[in-house]
Amino acid sequence: MKRRNFLRNIPLVAGIAATGGVSQALAAPVEKAGKKPALTIGHITDVHIRPEENVPERYKKCLEEVKRHKVDFFLNTGDSIHAADYGHITRERVLEQWAAWDDCMKMLQSYDVYTCIGNHDPWWAAPSKEDEMYGVAYAVKRAGMPARYYSFSKKNWHFFVLDGNNPGVSLDAPQMEWLKAGLAAVPAGHHVLLMSHYPILTVTGALVGGQHKDHKELKNLFYQHKDKVRVCLSGHQHLLDNCVYNGVHYLCNGAMSGFWWEKGDEKSAGPCYVQETPPGYAILKLYDDGTIENTYYPHQH
Ligand SMILES: [Fe+2]
Ligand SMILES: [Fe+2]
Repeated sequence: MKRRNFLRNIPLVAGIAATGGVSQALAAPVEKAGKKPALTIGHITDVHIRPEENVPERYKKCLEEVKRHKVDFFLNTGDSIHAADYGHITRERVLEQWAAWDDCMKMLQSYDVYTCIGNHDPWWAAPSKEDEMYGVAYAVKRAGMPARYYSFSKKNWHFFVLDGNNPGVSLDAPQMEWLKAGLAAVPAGHHVLLMSHYPILTVTGALVGGQHKDHKELKNLFYQHKDKVRVCLSGHQHLLDNCVYNGVHYLCNGAMSGFWWEKGDEKSAGPCYVQETPPGYAILKLYDDGTIENTYYPHQH
């Protein structure tokens, strides 16, 4: 392939924008001259909502910021509540975290919000597996999801929402079969975005955090559908981490909560940073030709 064509086929413009006095330009966001995105998405992840530290009010201010970008809808890649998963977590604690979530998300009542389940969302310490609040199913219900994995379409983009909260951090066998059939059914010329809490391929997985353990199988599957699969969106790392492999953009967009809404530690490059990543959210623009722009906006609330 000639170099000129090769460059044209790398469609991502990734950037980190400056807001509220935070300036950490990694790459300047570039507008596609005269072209309107088919879809403009607010991507939030790792909100880790809880009632203390004025977190709900701080999160609401962030949502106001996202709305100013005139987004069409929201994608939320999980860890919506601070933590339900630890062994000492009580029923009351789970309920107060979801109550804070509900209160904040009233601000997005006029938007579609598509969520996936993070590792901190399910309550495993319920008295029994029969308890209506036990595990992933309750988190699915509270997050307003139709199922723990599902798909939907908008314009010529198709979205697959995955659940990797299975043994070994992977898709279970029925989910993998569902995904294979779903990708095969996407019409030629259309585009695919997948979202998962854990990254599928990741740069920062070499540093911290986690990754889908079935990443090789998924990578092979995406290659079979390389004319369709454009984006894998994730969270979990709390680090801004973008990479491209076989033409698929793996975008792990930091964390709304940054350092879990706290000031940080000795490794934090700034207040509420996790290592070098500030708290923030991303605006993702999808174009009808399959190209995308992803810009991360730090916030200071
Ligand atoms: Fe998280
Ligand atoms: Fe997580």
